[in-house]
Amino acid sequence: MPSSAIRPYRGVDLVLGILFLFLGGVAIFWTGRFLQPSRTPPATPGSYHFIVKLDDVAPNMAYAFEMEGRPWLLVRSGPTLAAVSAICTYKGSPIRWDRRNRLLSCEGHGCTFSLHGEPISGLATSSLEVLKIKVINGRVYGARDLS
Ligand code: FES
Repeated sequence: MPSSAIRPYRGVDLVLGILFLFLGGVAIFWTGRFLQPSRTPPATPGSYHFIVKLDDVAPNMAYAFEMEGRPWLLVRSGPTLAAVSAICTYKGSPIRWDRRNRLLSCEGHGCTFSLHGEPISGLATSSLEVLKIKVINGRVYGARDLS
């Protein structure tokens, strides 16, 4: 038989072809599933998000959380429950809850803010953003006030 002759068809070629087609299909299927965006629609800005169970925030303590890609503090002080942005309006340093003075305090340059986000002392002149809060069955929900 000349060396340039076409190799005769063999059954093993058919089996290998089917196997490669099958594996390719499986690979394409799983790649598609992996790359497919989540079927859960993203939370709408301004809608209420669950934050934490109220019992999990001790009196005179703050609970740090993220919502819509931003850090927030939920503060429980006496009868007041407030959620404020944890980013200072002066130069963007983190805000923390000062338990002893019952104030929100900036770690950067020492600005202080009330629980309602209003600046009390320091160089900040703008208020911290405050969330609308709802407590339903012991669960705290917050929403940005986009009005
Ligand atoms: S960034 Fe808040 S006081 Fe400096």
